[in-house]
Amino acid sequence: MSTNESATSSKRWPAIRFNVNSEARIVKVPPMKRLLDVLREDLHLTGTKEGCGEGECGSCSIRMNGELVNSCLVPVLQVEGADIQTVEGLALDGALHPLQEAFLCHGGAQCGICTPGMLMAAAQLLERSPNPDMPQIREALAGNLCRCTGFIRIFESVAAAVDAQSASPATKLTTEQMHHAR
Ligand code: FES
Ligand code: FES
Repeated sequence: MSTNESATSSKRWPAIRFNVNSEARIVKVPPMKRLLDVLREDLHLTGTKEGCGEGECGSCSIRMNGELVNSCLVPVLQVEGADIQTVEGLALDGALHPLQEAFLCHGGAQCGICTPGMLMAAAQLLERSPNPDMPQIREALAGNLCRCTGFIRIFESVAAAVDAQSASPATKLTTEQMHHAR
């Protein structure tokens, strides 16, 4: 595991250490800087998107120690020692996560602003409940807003990923992917 120090870090600020997508990272930034901004500006992980910036839309959803959180509400000082997973951590060895494949195939993404948050929320659901029904899918994504799709294609994409992994062991989430998604 390598340790990368943010290229934009400053010696004025104390070092904050945490893992992002299984890689150890160190940033020296204002402690109250939003995790969303640290990910995008300091670590150049721009997959995580900002919608409302107020904790209402879910576009900035990431996973922190296995829990889905809105990164726009988390000051970076709170992630000291934490395991963070962003949408960049879903694909494994260059292969798209089954949810990403399903969103591509079933029109689950249009403008794409909500998509990373939707994917993270859906990944959280499938890890905890590998065979969810449609009400469970809707409930799991209830905190994520989309202004483009009308939601139906997003729900259908998640359902398609569930069907794909049920129908074919080859497309089932591997243990490694599940671990990677923590
Ligand atoms: S940008 Fe964080 S919840 Fe909307
Ligand atoms: S695809 Fe545009 S907000 Fe959801």
